[in-house]
Amino acid sequence: MVIDIIKETRPALTPNALRVLEKRYLRRNRRGELIETPEEMFRRVAQAVASAELIYDPLVDTDIMAGEFYRLMTSLEFLPNSPTLLNAGTEVGQLSSCFVLPVPDSIEETFDAVKYTALIHKSGGGIGFDVSRVRPRGAAVGEHLDAAGGPVALIHVIAGAADYIRQGGVRRGCNSVVMSVTHPDILHFIKAKSDPNVLTNFYNSVSVTDDFMNRVRAGSDYALIDPNTGEETGNLNARSVFARIIDQAWRTGDPGLVFTDRVNRDNPTPCLGRMETVTGCGEQALLPYESCNLGSINLVRMLGRDSGTLSIDYDRLARVVKTAVRFLDNVIDINRFPVPAVEAATRRTRKIGLGVMGFADMLIRLGIPYNSTRAISVAEEVMEFINDKAHEASRELALARGAFPAWEGSVYEKSDLPMRNACCTTIAPTGTLSIIAGVSSGIEPIFATVFVRNILDGENLLEVNSYFEEVARERGFFTPELIEQLVTSNHLQDRKDVPEDVRKVFVTAHRVSPQWHVRIQAAFQRHTDNAVSKTVNFPHDARREDIARVFEMAWEQGLKGITVYRDESRELQPLCTSQTG
Ligand code: CDP
Repeated sequence: MVIDIIKETRPALTPNALRVLEKRYLRRNRRGELIETPEEMFRRVAQAVASAELIYDPLVDTDIMAGEFYRLMTSLEFLPNSPTLLNAGTEVGQLSSCFVLPVPDSIEETFDAVKYTALIHKSGGGIGFDVSRVRPRGAAVGEHLDAAGGPVALIHVIAGAADYIRQGGVRRGCNSVVMSVTHPDILHFIKAKSDPNVLTNFYNSVSVTDDFMNRVRAGSDYALIDPNTGEETGNLNARSVFARIIDQAWRTGDPGLVFTDRVNRDNPTPCLGRMETVTGCGEQALLPYESCNLGSINLVRMLGRDSGTLSIDYDRLARVVKTAVRFLDNVIDINRFPVPAVEAATRRTRKIGLGVMGFADMLIRLGIPYNSTRAISVAEEVMEFINDKAHEASRELALARGAFPAWEGSVYEKSDLPMRNACCTTIAPTGTLSIIAGVSSGIEPIFATVFVRNILDGENLLEVNSYFEEVARERGFFTPELIEQLVTSNHLQDRKDVPEDVRKVFVTAHRVSPQWHVRIQAAFQRHTDNAVSKTVNFPHDARREDIARVFEMAWEQGLKGITVYRDESRELQPLCTSQTG
């Protein structure tokens, strides 16, 4: 039955999507020859994920659900995170993108974390660490004074292990490290990435409380605390520490901030402890040892014509959310976790992360500029709908399959709401998924209408926004020269031969002011259980004050974290045009 469906449904993959799939995702034999087509990959994933249905109904015909999952993916309406596409139905079987590992203040446990890092990276996951508990550089160890290497040295140890392992042989894992602003080594940490050649796959963030942000405003001091002894080791001025963070972020884009009080206001299971750090690209706050599998809905595919007018087809979206939540919940059951502690923590809360991609492409098709109040309304409307429907689907699953094991004592118990998953929604970066789906990544604005994508370990892919080409042809301003000039020199927004309405709607990341980036991120955050991955782009000539203002605005608007990037402040940019926008 599934085989028949596969014959009917072929994914409409772009040439670049096919290249990414061939290079990274499709299975190969020992001689390195491809042994899988994209359809076979989707079938492998659909069948593996549907097999979890047997746990709940041993007599169920899993082909039916496999067919639904297969259609969900081949229509490019929804894609699960990369590890699921890579590993479902294979011997590896590790299906999650996001992990958090604790870094306690002991040699045994720290080197356990290094080992787990290697295992998680090997299977395609990214990791979040919090190094705030590690005693400061130069602290005593036992009777030996001035012996501790300190957390920054430890990050280099972890980075060494991470560098040694390439994820499943296909990519380098990304990690994020958080340190509390009260740690005595905080100034050292802020500068940990000032050399652009070190810790290249680590995103560092300083974890700050509301109290710290208030002290920045007031210009007052705050105490540094040794996490090992609990003693105060000194005071720093909050405003001057903030200025150092800003200076470093201005120079290299790193560190960012994590607003820890805000993160923990959304902690669904406070009785299990605080969420101290976020994973890989900032989208997922988790408890120690938890992991989360993500999946993203392609918003472009959610558009339909209603009496001739293009709009969001909410009926279709509701169906897609429901099937996607079931898909992601099944993934937890068939997942082969790399470490027993991760399995135990993940099964206890069953967190899943459903999000979106193609938001900017959807806005363009609706004729709405990204930097507009209409875009904010659409963001809120669509994400509120997805979040509500995801919760509804999780509640239905709870009735059939039982609530997540740590439900008692969770925030849901208070309102007597059964839930299958402690968290349902997350906005992932969708760095590779969006290439497979052929749409703009996550909730980011389009990077350019024509650009060279620097990805796949140094390989460059030329991409012309297909809808831009369509519009340009329809409206008669498409010429090969225009495309060539857009990739080599000209900004679309400066081209007078392109109609003004087109220029406004195809606004690119660098022409969207940082404030609009933050407003869109905040709009999504208001309706997302977990966090929102987003980079706030600044032009090269942005000043430190501009970054400071946006960091404060991020806190005021209720973001859980913020990452900025000033154009050309790092040598290797994940996306590039020869010019900016
Ligand atoms: O699109 P894809 O599913 O490949 O990944 P993403 O949405 O760009 O990133 C989701 C998460 O995957 C990140 O937060 C990391 O935890 C992890 N990741 C990683 O470890 N290494 C990468 N090179 C890319 C992503």
